[in-house]
Amino acid sequence: MSKTLTAAAPNTQTDFLPLEGTDYVEFYVGNAKQAAHFYKTAFGFQSLAYAGPETGVKDRASYAIRQNKLTFVLTTPLRAGNPIADHIYKHGDGVKVLALRVPDATKAWQETTSRGGKTYMEPTRLTDEFGEVVLSGIHTYGETVHVFVERKNYTGAFMPGFKEWKTVYNPTETGLQYVDHCVGNVGWNQMNKWVSFYEEVLGFRNILSFDDKDISTEYSALMSKVMSNGNGFVKFPINEPAEGRKKSQVEEYLEFYDGEGCQHVALATNNIVETVSALRDRGVEFLKVPTTYYDDLLDRVGHIDEDLEPLKELGILVDRDDEGYLLQIFTRPVEDRPTLFFEIIQRKGAKSFGKGNFKALFEAIEREQELRGNL
Ligand code: FE2
Repeated sequence: MSKTLTAAAPNTQTDFLPLEGTDYVEFYVGNAKQAAHFYKTAFGFQSLAYAGPETGVKDRASYAIRQNKLTFVLTTPLRAGNPIADHIYKHGDGVKVLALRVPDATKAWQETTSRGGKTYMEPTRLTDEFGEVVLSGIHTYGETVHVFVERKNYTGAFMPGFKEWKTVYNPTETGLQYVDHCVGNVGWNQMNKWVSFYEEVLGFRNILSFDDKDISTEYSALMSKVMSNGNGFVKFPINEPAEGRKKSQVEEYLEFYDGEGCQHVALATNNIVETVSALRDRGVEFLKVPTTYYDDLLDRVGHIDEDLEPLKELGILVDRDDEGYLLQIFTRPVEDRPTLFFEIIQRKGAKSFGKGNFKALFEAIEREQELRGNL
């Protein structure tokens, strides 16, 4: 099997799970107050809403922050001995919820659980003076979950239980726009199981596949399949480790996250040079490829609108497919554990994921793994 870019077949069936995009990504973190400060300061998110003891939520504090169509929720437990605290003890800071916007959360739960999805949350109606939000949810890989969010009858800041969060400290935005895709790392030989899960339970399709020939370096390998919903608003690549001479980055993740989980969230921008310059100035650390990567870049990808020099200076990667090109860069892990990181991506026609950059990128990751003694 080699790379297959399957042109999305016209979906003749009615979509049983219509998705309007990513509603929010919720992270369970050791200190939500400080994490919110980090994402505001470093990434340019804006204060949106808060839930905690002051709003009647007794067991946790949650900070919702927003930038354009991107909403993050940072949640921390207030005491030990509960599922949130246990999650953080086991996994460290990480993604708990990949929430998907739906027109009908009750129907989303019925359709997915009747196809084998395991219930995380039965349909739950939350109300306050701004209207109602209906939530439901199912489990996915590891301890990660999908929450379906129906908010068409809600006009408040985020959702009932939260109150608007107004702050004096409001750093400027950095041009991040929306979630492009979220990647899951799963265990040995588990990729196809989760591909089937997304096909059967959520009605997604496998639009792209990479095997260990595509994604390997001298030392390690991984395999990946990209799952997409019908309208392409929600894309979940699934990685599993493959045999190599040394430990792959997926294995390192699985060891330090102590299980399967979200490896990276890709954040879209309309101007990657401006966004990455701002992020770097605010302290976000990026992976670096050798400057030789740029020596024959234009021979490989052809004409691009951007000047080469700022791309080279910032370490931004470029790849082309049949439909156009994309620019991308990856942060270092944003925790001390080598687990979750972010991708910043600007698409100029390309709908793929940067296959031409895999080798340079994975070698950059392996140089860092080596420094951690984990290669
Ligand atoms: Fe990615």
